[in-house]
Amino acid sequence: MTAISLTVNGKLVSGNVEDRTLLVHFLRDHLNLTGTHVGCDTSQCGACVVHVDGRAVKSCTMLVGQADGASVTTIEGLSHGDELHPMQAAFRDNHGLQCGYCTPGMIMSAVDIVQRHVVQNPGGKLDEATVRQELEGNICRCTGYHNIVKSVLDAAGRMSTAQAAE
Ligand code: FES
Ligand code: FES
Repeated sequence: MTAISLTVNGKLVSGNVEDRTLLVHFLRDHLNLTGTHVGCDTSQCGACVVHVDGRAVKSCTMLVGQADGASVTTIEGLSHGDELHPMQAAFRDNHGLQCGYCTPGMIMSAVDIVQRHVVQNPGGKLDEATVRQELEGNICRCTGYHNIVKSVLDAAGRMSTAQAAE
C-alpha cells in the first residue's frame, strides 16, 4: 500500500491505496469523479486527461503515488459553481461535441493548450494548424474535429479577454 495526500479540485484528499492504482482509477473509483473517462488501454485516446500542477496529463499513464503532493484538477473542478469555464462555454456554443465521451479530456487538453500558447504567452497567437497538432493525443470518434478546433480557437479569445480584464 502507498500513503498518498494530494489536492483534487481544491480539496485535500489522503489515504492508502494499492501501489498499482492509476490516477484515473483513483479519481473515478475512490473519489467518484467519473467525468474523467477511460477510452483505451494504450495511452492513445486522451479521454482521461486531467491537470496535474496545471499541466495536462493522461491520468491512465500515471500512478496515483506519482501525484502525491500534487494539485489535480478534473473536469468537475473547471467551472466556478454554475458558471462554465470559457472552454466549456465555447464547446457548448460551437457544437464541439456529439456523444461527449471524449469531451472532458478534450477540454482539459484544450485549456492547457490555450494557457501555454495565449494566456502565458502575451501577444501569442493560436492557429488552426497548431490546435490540430496539439490535439493529436485526443481522439474523437464523432465530430470530425472541425467544431472542436473552432471551439478551442473561440475559447482562446474568451480566455485572453478574461485575463485582460483581471
Ligand atoms: S484512457 Fe488514457 S489515453 Fe485512453
Ligand atoms: S464527441 Fe463522441 S467521441 Fe468525441
